[in-house]
Amino acid sequence: MSSPRRLRLAAIGCGSRTFIYFEQAAQLPDLYEIVAAADHNQARRAKARELSRNPQFREFYDDAAILAEPKLADIMIIATQDAYHFTHASTALRKGYDLLLEKPISTNLPEVLALDRLARELGRRVLVCHVLRYTPFYRKVKEIVASGALGRVVSFEATEGVEAWHQGHSFVRGHWSVTEKSTPMIIAKSCHDTDILSWLVDSPCEAVGSFGGIMHFRADQAPAGAPARCTDGCPVGETCLWNALRYLTDQKRWLDVIYDRAKTATDDEIRAWLRTSPWGRCVYHCDNTAVDHQTVNMTFASGATGTFTMTAFSQGRDLAIFGTKARLLAGERVQRLSGSEIVIEDHLTHAIQKVPVDLDPGGGHGGGDAGLIRMLHPEMCKPRSEDMESSLQKSVESHVMGFAAEEARRTGRVINLAEFRARMLAAHTG
Ligand SMILES: NC(=O)c1ccc[n+]([C@@H]2O[C@H](COP(=O)([O-])OP(=O)(O)OC[C@H]3O[C@@H](n4cnc5c(N)ncnc54)[C@H](O)[C@@H]3O)[C@@H](O)[C@H]2O)c1
Repeated sequence: MSSPRRLRLAAIGCGSRTFIYFEQAAQLPDLYEIVAAADHNQARRAKARELSRNPQFREFYDDAAILAEPKLADIMIIATQDAYHFTHASTALRKGYDLLLEKPISTNLPEVLALDRLARELGRRVLVCHVLRYTPFYRKVKEIVASGALGRVVSFEATEGVEAWHQGHSFVRGHWSVTEKSTPMIIAKSCHDTDILSWLVDSPCEAVGSFGGIMHFRADQAPAGAPARCTDGCPVGETCLWNALRYLTDQKRWLDVIYDRAKTATDDEIRAWLRTSPWGRCVYHCDNTAVDHQTVNMTFASGATGTFTMTAFSQGRDLAIFGTKARLLAGERVQRLSGSEIVIEDHLTHAIQKVPVDLDPGGGHGGGDAGLIRMLHPEMCKPRSEDMESSLQKSVESHVMGFAAEEARRTGRVINLAEFRARMLAAHTG
């Protein structure tokens, strides 16, 4: 059998995501050749070059510089921050690239729909980095649901525990803390969940309701005397879960994704950096607008209904699917209680089946990052772009759910998705 044609990869934005994808792709030299990347930051470009393992690797200062060149790769990875995705993705599509596009597709739904339309008009392929679809865990759950072993899916409950420190790092102090500059939490963090849930139910979502807000990360919850920065000598620093000085000790690994000198800086240098960096701020005295808890109620065309809860104060994902023949429990909690990631209980016999999952120990997102890059080549080679596992066309559906959920949360109304989508489409065209 002849080996598949290698796909050439380039990237706009050399941050943590591109590094992960380059690292994975470089391990598959029969499938990929990493040819170029753009970033304002020289150190990051240098790291991308090193990861590429390609002596001919080309560096560019920014999106404009790389896109001014004649098309130099088959696939452009778009991995800048959320607010740039639409501009960078649409320009790269026009330049002739197929895309590996980081989620979210855009920070607002009119642009999501416009990008989908543009890709269709140009006949380009866009694979969205909904990495959970490529994990052994969710693939197994999908296989069980699709096999009919649970009967018809009637209801589900899903939870995503962001985890308290992670919430503080990313959604109180970090990139996604001010939703007006990035994306609402239900998109920024939980578009993975709406994507997985609609994939598992396999029926269009028709309407959503939602509640949530910021209960904890606000000034009126601050311990007495807590200063604006943890480096200013906080009276409760010793016992505070979010003490930024933990970046020097047990939470040091989080520095890697935000501080270019994380590996080489001395403790004094890190302390000095925390004095001015957003990550040195007291979590009760930030400008955060991202919610720390939210629930979403969903109803689907099949008649199924389900709930999703995002909370800062749990850890990992949990899922219960209630079918006409059996119920399935999966995720962190059931793993702790039963030792198995997935458990099925039959309604008739009450027999309990523990389903083994071939958990991939390598890579982030439960093996999803590595799985995505392994599958990128075969997905891009499928005859029809809409059949790609996390195609733009499919990913738009879960983004509609997420943006509708945010509107539901803000307005306190139930949002009909067809009506919402038509309204958002009109917002971009006219
Ligand atoms: N799929 C997932 O599970 C997942 C997980 C985390 C983050 N993300 C998403 O991935 C994206 C990237 O996240 P990250 O953590 O790698 O971000 P990052 O901030 O570490 O990296 C972004 C890089 O883009 C560069 N950049 C900015 N403007 C540029 C321009 N005009 N031209 C070229 N480069 C430019 C910045 O200098 C920076 O190095 C975000 O949208 C994020 O939401 C996805």
